[in-house]
Amino acid sequence: MAEYAADLQRQGVTLGLVPTMGYLHEGHLSLVRLLEGRCDLKAASIFVNPIQFGQDEDLGRYPRDEERDLELLAEAGCGLVFCPDAADMYPSGFRTSVEVDTLSQPMCGRFRPGHFSGVATVVLKLFNLTRCSVAAFGLKDYQQAQILRRMVEDLNLPVELLFGETIREQDGLALSTRNAYLSPRERETAQAVPKALEWARRRASEDIRDCTELSRGISSILTSRPEVRVQYVELVDPESLEPRNQVGERVLVAVAAFVGTTRLIDNLIVGPGSTMKPIHGVNV
Ligand code: PAJ
Repeated sequence: MAEYAADLQRQGVTLGLVPTMGYLHEGHLSLVRLLEGRCDLKAASIFVNPIQFGQDEDLGRYPRDEERDLELLAEAGCGLVFCPDAADMYPSGFRTSVEVDTLSQPMCGRFRPGHFSGVATVVLKLFNLTRCSVAAFGLKDYQQAQILRRMVEDLNLPVELLFGETIREQDGLALSTRNAYLSPRERETAQAVPKALEWARRRASEDIRDCTELSRGISSILTSRPEVRVQYVELVDPESLEPRNQVGERVLVAVAAFVGTTRLIDNLIVGPGSTMKPIHGVNV
């Protein structure tokens, strides 16, 4: 990959990258489309990155279907797919990691120690290996997007970042590879997550300004279903991810909840300027 990327660069061919862990869905493919017109060669990577999984997380059972992924990526116009092995990415003796302070601490960071360091480290390696000039990430993983934006700025990486809005099912559930774990009954229950966020968006624009009240409302919508266990509901500043008390300005509402044993995350921005769309804009 490194040699190929160097050749492309010598020929003046610019590469756009969508990093993924595979088992692709429309959310991933929307990011490939986001690269349209912004590079000469659209590329994706498929790599289930072991260092971003915790000890008791789902690394071992993470779904994979490389053949189908390659077909979908070709249809979406990807000219190159990079599928490295873990042993090549992390040979014995590998010792370096990228730590993005502060932004990694709230929300998922509280429950997944080391996760964002694993993400930042692999994304930096993928940027270096592919020499991409542009890369696309989804706002479904809002905290990840902000952390990577920070990393690019702090380390002066010559990569432009694009952010795509969250692609959802008809009933509002955000597409996620992990939705494959849900039984039909759990899939039905999972609707509570976007419903709770949508409730918060509506009430924040109508009458509730107090973040604690919004947070309580979201939790009670979620826990009205016995199979749901809330991990966090956080209302934070969309840039700094610091806690907010009032919806005076735009507030990011972020939720993580288990439906059965499946952990789902979702978010949206509420407050002035937030539209009916769950999350707006390319380039947060
Ligand atoms: P993965 O979960 O496979 O997601 C790959 C990209 O797709 C991420 O940028 C994610 O935010 C985006 N994505 C996922 N679901 C989406 C949806 N419903 N709508 C829009 N975009 C969506 O995120 C990772 O992999 C990894 O952490 C990775 C960045 C590849 C590093 O290993």
